[in-house]
Amino acid sequence: MSVVAVIGAQWGDEGKGKIVDLLAEKADAVVRFSGGDNAGHTVINPKGEFKLHIVPSGIFYPRAACIIGNGVVINPGVLLQELDDLKARGVNVDNLHISDRAHLIMPWHILLDGLEEEKRGDGAIGTTKKGIGPAFADKTARRGIRVCDMLDPAVFKARLAIILAAKNDILTKVYNTAPLGLEAVFNEYWGYAQRLAHYIEDTTALVSDLVRKGSNIVLEGAQGSMLDPDFGSYPFVTSSSPLAAGACIGSGINPRRIDRVVGIFKAYTTRVGGGPMPTELKDDVGEYIRQHAHEYGATTGRARRCGWFDAVVGRYTTELNGFTNGILTRLDVLDEMENVKICVAYKVGDKTVEHFPADVEALDHCTPIYEELPGWKTSTTDMREAKKLPVNARKYVKRLEELIGCPFHIISIGPRREQSIVIKNII
Ligand code: GDP
Ligand code: IMO
Ligand code: MG
Repeated sequence: MSVVAVIGAQWGDEGKGKIVDLLAEKADAVVRFSGGDNAGHTVINPKGEFKLHIVPSGIFYPRAACIIGNGVVINPGVLLQELDDLKARGVNVDNLHISDRAHLIMPWHILLDGLEEEKRGDGAIGTTKKGIGPAFADKTARRGIRVCDMLDPAVFKARLAIILAAKNDILTKVYNTAPLGLEAVFNEYWGYAQRLAHYIEDTTALVSDLVRKGSNIVLEGAQGSMLDPDFGSYPFVTSSSPLAAGACIGSGINPRRIDRVVGIFKAYTTRVGGGPMPTELKDDVGEYIRQHAHEYGATTGRARRCGWFDAVVGRYTTELNGFTNGILTRLDVLDEMENVKICVAYKVGDKTVEHFPADVEALDHCTPIYEELPGWKTSTTDMREAKKLPVNARKYVKRLEELIGCPFHIISIGPRREQSIVIKNII
């Protein structure tokens, strides 16, 4: 019986969806605790290929309670569409639970996300334009609308009227765009509320109950640790914490209850959107990885920036999260490489830096210091035991473990559930 947090250890898209789907087989509950529909979690299992944005990746196991926690911002229209798509493909979604404390993404959040990005010009963050930043900003500024607020039409309309008046001032007077109509927004969201009402509850109480009963709980991270607003490459970050600490805040589970913190690492690095990425490869190797691994965003379809594994990042996120177990994904993508490189430090000016710096300018101008290892030139996708991996692949994995300070307990060598080498059971 254990509570396991699954955390992205890089800039997102590490393969959390695949791993949560794998671990959820033994879970009584899967809880999403941060982000919103900026996430895109790919799951490939016997039911098909799915890209989940807001529904937890445990949804394919009817016995697991799938909880959208209080720390998530929810666009109810997107959620309903995702549920309809899942149902149309024969997936039972009756086990979904939505926190009444979660905040709503409202139409102005999406408009403002786009308008603010446009205003940033060359300094654009490259957000997913799903309204995430503006929704979390309003939550913190205490002018958000929560899921529970939309359940009573009178309460909802009164709160909406006050907030919308202020937002319309910004839309019309700052951005010179058309205002939003109160009746139209109310009717749209009241419709969503009626369709979602039976999923909505106090999930904090539900989660506490599950913990007390000694259930297996998977806390499903979204984004990656380097997109954390405090510790990531600020301001090129997201707006909620993807870290293990965020799993407590966003689900209502206290820190003493988390038994294992599992870091998901891709065998190389990708990043989508703006901001520094020291190991980015703007050459044929980067292009080879992008094409060969089809590195295009699951949410926006944008090309992901690709580069070598960054062990400065890996060491940093292992410390920040306290990873007890690592999982290495997409090792197979490197199967054909002649040589593989690992960044072990950065050169910033004449200094060698081994700790991820706060200064984005320094990161933009740093030079990665690489160690080079020979490739293995053998397909690993059908291997199921670590000892069968080619010796050079094992050396690469071992060197990564040494550098980040965390052992890998699953090595993923393909997108399907069964393409996994389990070295030690995590649940
Ligand atoms: P997430 O956001 O962390 O869930 O990751 P994404 O779903 O956005 O991106 C990961 C991509 O890698 C998806 O297309 C997965 O199907 C795929 N994937 C996951 N693990 C592996 C693996 O070990 N090998 C390969 N080749 N693909 C993988
Ligand atoms: P998953 O869960 C990769 C990135 C965006 C942008 C920055 C801010 O699939 O790993 P936002 O819309 O959050 O305000 O955008 O964060 N980003 C992600 N990158 N994977 C994700 O989620 C991401 N969610 C947000 O590209 O750079
Ligand atoms: Mg993704």
